[in-house]
Amino acid sequence: MAFDYKRALVTGGAGFIGSHLTEALVAEGCRVVVLDNLTSGHLANLDAVIDQIDFIQGDIRDPQTVSKAIKDSEVVFHLAAVVSVPQTVEQPVESAMVNDMGTLNIFEAARDNRVGSVVFASSSAVYGDDPELPKHEALKPKPLSPYAVQKITGEYYAHMYNDLYGVKSTALRFFNVYGPRQDPSSPYSGVISIFMQKAVTGSQPTIFGDGTQSRDFIYVKDVVRANMLAAAAPAAGGTSINVGTGKSVSINRLWEIISQTNGSKEQPQYAPPRSGDIHASVADISLAKSLIGFSPEYTFDKGLGQTFKWYRKSSTYSGA
Ligand code: NAD
Ligand code: UD1
Repeated sequence: MAFDYKRALVTGGAGFIGSHLTEALVAEGCRVVVLDNLTSGHLANLDAVIDQIDFIQGDIRDPQTVSKAIKDSEVVFHLAAVVSVPQTVEQPVESAMVNDMGTLNIFEAARDNRVGSVVFASSSAVYGDDPELPKHEALKPKPLSPYAVQKITGEYYAHMYNDLYGVKSTALRFFNVYGPRQDPSSPYSGVISIFMQKAVTGSQPTIFGDGTQSRDFIYVKDVVRANMLAAAAPAAGGTSINVGTGKSVSINRLWEIISQTNGSKEQPQYAPPRSGDIHASVADISLAKSLIGFSPEYTFDKGLGQTFKWYRKSSTYSGA
């Protein structure tokens, strides 16, 4: 991969995806500053690289903190966010301060510092419940939660900073990301992290609805690679790009695979569907291929295998 940047800022770098990205950047010889206020991230996620990075415990809502963190950065990966959809539903104003105003602070600081490239972590949530499949970038956004409104707003800022101010900016619409370090501790954590923990602790999982709903699960290291490719690709400026695998798995099948791999005999209990749950989600990844040369490298089996190893080692994981 032609990744020539030497100094990077990763906001949200103590989180699940951000910590993997930080490790990959360090491995590429990049000097990394991580800006994170540790609301949902954990310093322990950065154990492997903490001596090789600059960690700033601070908030993206504070322009001075952002300005200090971004100084000398050639590239910015903006992942810090209130990531819990239910939390944004309960706190639409407070979460917008982080997900919108915080994001605007990042773009503005990038403009001031003549940063070469900004990659913004958006979400497939911007598609809402549009039944058209696969989801492709030309679909009209249909945000159904404050979280989704905030993400599409961040995308519009990315496009506008690209076109108006010449700050090369790309929004990546992550589908359902999974892998080591995903925190299973809340009921709204990613389903793979919850099922992995249930399997390794021998507890019964809950499937909401009839389990025929499906998702496009992408391994975290593929998401990391997509971020680095997007930062480096000249053609990615001013665009929004899906980051998924193009394949989907039902939630029933997901538990079958995870329980079989672990030798767990637990049968799931079924509960009413979650309100607002979408039925099917799968990404069209042709734009990712053509614009940034991205195709996923991890098969679902391989990614799940890597993830299993981690949850088995950390079966008492509590996010500490
Ligand atoms: P995460 O919670 O592990 O990471 C988010 C990080 O942001 C945390 O370390 C948190 O402490 C930090 N943060 C939150 N508010 C902050 C603030 N005000 N100032 C500074 N730091 C702050 O979540 P993740 O799954 O790694 O998500 C990373 C990004 O990817 C987010 O923007 C999220 O919306 C997006 N995303 C994730 C998924 C997924 O499936 N995990 C899917 C789509 C999009
Ligand atoms: C996820 C992300 C969201 C992102 C979106 C993008 C998480 C926590 N949420 O939402 O931030 O914007 O993808 O595509 O990563 N389920 C169960 N049992 C459980 C948990 C979940 O049956 O114990 C079901 C849910 O009802 C849902 C499916 O599994 O149908 C996936 O749920 P979840 O992992 O929370 O992800 P999304 O809702 O798709």
